[in-house]
Amino acid sequence: GTVVLAYSGGLDTSCILVWLKEEGYDVITYLANIGQEEDFDAAKKKAESLGAKKVFIEDLRAEFVEEFIWPSVQASAIYEDRYLLGTSVARPCIARRQIQIARQEGAQYVSHGATGKGNDQIRFELTCYALYPEVKIIAPWRIPEFYNRFVGRKDLMEYAEKHGIPVPVTRKAPWSMDANLMHISYESGILENPKTHAPADLYLMTKSPEDAPNSPDVLEIEFKKGVPIKVTHIKEGKSKDTPLDIFSYLNEIGGRHGVGRIDIVENRFIGMKSRGIYETPGGTILYHAHLDIETFTLDREVRRIKQGLGVKFAEMLYNGFWYSPECEFVRHCIDKSQESVDGKVQLSVFKGQVYILGRESPKSLYNEELVSMDVQGDYDPCDASGFIKINAVRLREHHRLQGDHRSK
Ligand code: ARG
Ligand code: SIN
Repeated sequence: GTVVLAYSGGLDTSCILVWLKEEGYDVITYLANIGQEEDFDAAKKKAESLGAKKVFIEDLRAEFVEEFIWPSVQASAIYEDRYLLGTSVARPCIARRQIQIARQEGAQYVSHGATGKGNDQIRFELTCYALYPEVKIIAPWRIPEFYNRFVGRKDLMEYAEKHGIPVPVTRKAPWSMDANLMHISYESGILENPKTHAPADLYLMTKSPEDAPNSPDVLEIEFKKGVPIKVTHIKEGKSKDTPLDIFSYLNEIGGRHGVGRIDIVENRFIGMKSRGIYETPGGTILYHAHLDIETFTLDREVRRIKQGLGVKFAEMLYNGFWYSPECEFVRHCIDKSQESVDGKVQLSVFKGQVYILGRESPKSLYNEELVSMDVQGDYDPCDASGFIKINAVRLREHHRLQGDHRSK
């Protein structure tokens, strides 16, 4: 049979490629460009030299931003109050194209190099089954003949040398990384001890806030339906207006000022806690900017419901259910909630922080006259007496049972 392997060019998936061939498969490799730093040409040559029947290198950056990151921004998607889901959101995007290739090439099999203990295997495979129900999945790290043979990195190296797989010349960082346009994540290795501090040179996308410039960059971000359509650097006057340019530019500015670093212990879907370090510079700026324009333009009660949906959405995303009936339903609702989320937010990026400076919107629900202490507006203060008294009915009843001890 033919298998489409999600190939990274690294040692693991190179060994998997050769192993699959040994097992008798025709191997097509697929490498998605989702904005990670990578020598794609070298990876292509490497896959070919290892006997891949066909090699696909796919630039998914624009669709990654528009179809996956933007809905997450609209949703204010955040997992366990801190993680902006940079890895989670990339998985359905990567797996979708893998399935397109498998169909187009008539392959019944897909394969990946995700570990058997993680979230990524779940996300990849749920997406594959959702989009190609008959597909057969080969997950070597869950196949005893594979993982018993490759217990440590030493075994991979030995196998590589035996089979003419070029072994990495640079020493491997003592942790595992996952990089894309939205973030870089760092986990395992020396980071497995949750008490161990991240070394200063771990971070690749952001400067330390301590080394960040002593003056801020002031930006204006314009939103239409909850999605950024333009970012302008106020002083320099330059602006970006395509999704990929906007996001990349925010990464550059956020990175320069050390925005979006977190170090957390999180709950994997599989049931274990894991320690992760993340840097999400552009995503963090957008999270704050979007929240500001949303609160400005969205009805209070709609926002409350939408906020709850956003929490659900984040869980679905984390757990790999992007392509599910419940997630499609929730995305639709969130999208509907964003109809009036238009306007501009001005903010300053400085020393690891995002400071909101001001906002304006044609769809604003803010009524300067209504809220002003200096103008009466269409509001009768006398009405507030009744409003408060009616709300106090319950509290007075409660007092009947409580007695006076709280005020004594
Ligand atoms: N813990 C994060 C998540 O589940 C990051 C996973 C990183 N994946 C990786 N293969 N290094 O989304
Ligand atoms: C890994 O695959 O390296 C673990 C990360 C994950 O899948 O959650």
